[in-house]
Amino acid sequence: MRSLTKMDHVLLGVDKALRAMVPHSNPSTRPLPVSNDTIPKLNITEARHVAGLMRINHTGEVCAQGLYHGQAFSAKDNDVKQAMQQSAQEEVDHLVWCETRLSELGSHPSIFTPLWYGMSFGLGAIAGAISNEFSLGFVAETEAQVSEHLQDHIGLLPAQDIRSKEILAQMDIEELHHRELALENGGIALSAPVRHTMRWMANCMKATAYHL
Ligand SMILES: [Fe+2]
Ligand SMILES: [Fe+2]
Repeated sequence: MRSLTKMDHVLLGVDKALRAMVPHSNPSTRPLPVSNDTIPKLNITEARHVAGLMRINHTGEVCAQGLYHGQAFSAKDNDVKQAMQQSAQEEVDHLVWCETRLSELGSHPSIFTPLWYGMSFGLGAIAGAISNEFSLGFVAETEAQVSEHLQDHIGLLPAQDIRSKEILAQMDIEELHHRELALENGGIALSAPVRHTMRWMANCMKATAYHL
């Protein structure tokens, strides 16, 4: 079998980026993590609210795709790419689960999806270029912050929307595992200014994606 050329890698990168941004273009490897197929009954206000929350979570998963792709683009050694591969695959499932729930709610992902992906790719590429330890520390901090907001969202969902709660709870378990993997592979603790900047950016994204 021939080895991949530079152009092959570029095309593979473009394919992965498009799959992150175009809804329903990824075959999920795992079904929705729900205990039954009952779709919860929600009134219009509740459905809009859940769609806003799921749009934020979908955007978070687009950002995770951008972050992992950006890191793989600039990471200096293959070990980091390998270590993060399983996490990256689980993130694809999360993306598909959020897309599916948004469709069930008759809603759509954020209209700024390409912007979120591009920004996250850039941040991932910068983190990967700085050092493996910083890059993995960046993943660990991102996953910790994602886990916090998933737990917040579980508390904000209408009581009868067990379906969304089960999806977010499974994502939360896996995000915390991604954090552990990044730390086990050498991720360092980030400084307070970097952590605060990440949180500020995440809050801007959340405020926008809830509505748009
Ligand atoms: Fe995720
Ligand atoms: Fe994750």
